Amino acid sequence: MGLVTTKGMFKRAYDGGYAIGAFNVNNMEVIQGVVEALAMGNAPGILQISKGARQYAGMTYLRKLVEAALEEHKELELAVHLDHGPDFELCKACVDDPIFTSVMIDASALPLEENIRITKQVVDYAHAAGKVVEAELGRLGGIEEHVQVSEKEAFLTDPDEAEIFVERTKVDSLAVAIGTSHGAYKFKGEPVLALDLVEELTRRLKGFPLVMHGSSSVPQELVELCNKYGGQLPNARGVPEEMISKAVKMGICKVNIDTDIRLAITAKLREFFATQPSVFDYRKYLAPARDAVRNMVLHKLDVLGCKGKAVT
Ligand code: G3H
Ligand code: 13P
Ligand code: ZN
Repeated sequence: MGLVTTKGMFKRAYDGGYAIGAFNVNNMEVIQGVVEALAMGNAPGILQISKGARQYAGMTYLRKLVEAALEEHKELELAVHLDHGPDFELCKACVDDPIFTSVMIDASALPLEENIRITKQVVDYAHAAGKVVEAELGRLGGIEEHVQVSEKEAFLTDPDEAEIFVERTKVDSLAVAIGTSHGAYKFKGEPVLALDLVEELTRRLKGFPLVMHGSSSVPQELVELCNKYGGQLPNARGVPEEMISKAVKMGICKVNIDTDIRLAITAKLREFFATQPSVFDYRKYLAPARDAVRNMVLHKLDVLGCKGKAVT
């Protein structure tokens, strides 16, 4: 199959009640780990590249690495997506880049009308080039149990606004704020997601793909391994896998994962350096770190239910 937009994979995911994993990549080992897992699991998938990834590795390297992955794994059904595009200019640059099939414009911090205007500008440009667009509405942030309903509603995605937003922008998918947040510290107390809101959004936007950012589960065994070998990640907490599965069954089609990749690598490296202090051949620790990424992603594919769903 090769490089595709997310259109077909989202439609099949929505109809089939499963979700597509979108994994942030910054270097060769992570790209290899993710695509190996997708190939082994015969799963469609998304590699996502942030502005920070572009700055870190440089787009020339990232483009060639993704091309290499596609050449090595001809069977992959893979989309390449700009994560959190901050403005029209960067989205345009990625639409113009043949390796990207999808871009996200994140104007969620702006007032609704501004978000609609910029998103529509990106959608018009991307659609003319045969590419797809994700936008965001609402503000990501953990819902604490003690927070008043009115305060929660201040940042969760408003279903009325979501209907207007999708209708006016003609965007292809929408990242919604349902109580998740980026990083390793998602909840101060018990994890809570506004699953009733996901249900409501799915009811109002029938057949439309919803995206969940901040979806890392922050596995406690990885946090413990980091902390055992000198890390300082006190009270790191993510979205429990059962909640991810529930949200997926309710209409979430794309699930974004970055933090769990970072944790898998960091835990492996910390353990390695502490237990094998005399080794300095970097291949000796980057190879197991890459394997840890692959194994973690393989597990995610089970949670999302997308194994065996690639069109090859
Ligand atoms: O949502 C943000 C992603 O985790 C990317 O993070 O901007 O540090 O590359 P980054
Ligand atoms: P995590 O920080 O939970 O991995 O979320 C990543 C993300 O949403 C990237 O856009
Ligand atoms: Zn995000």
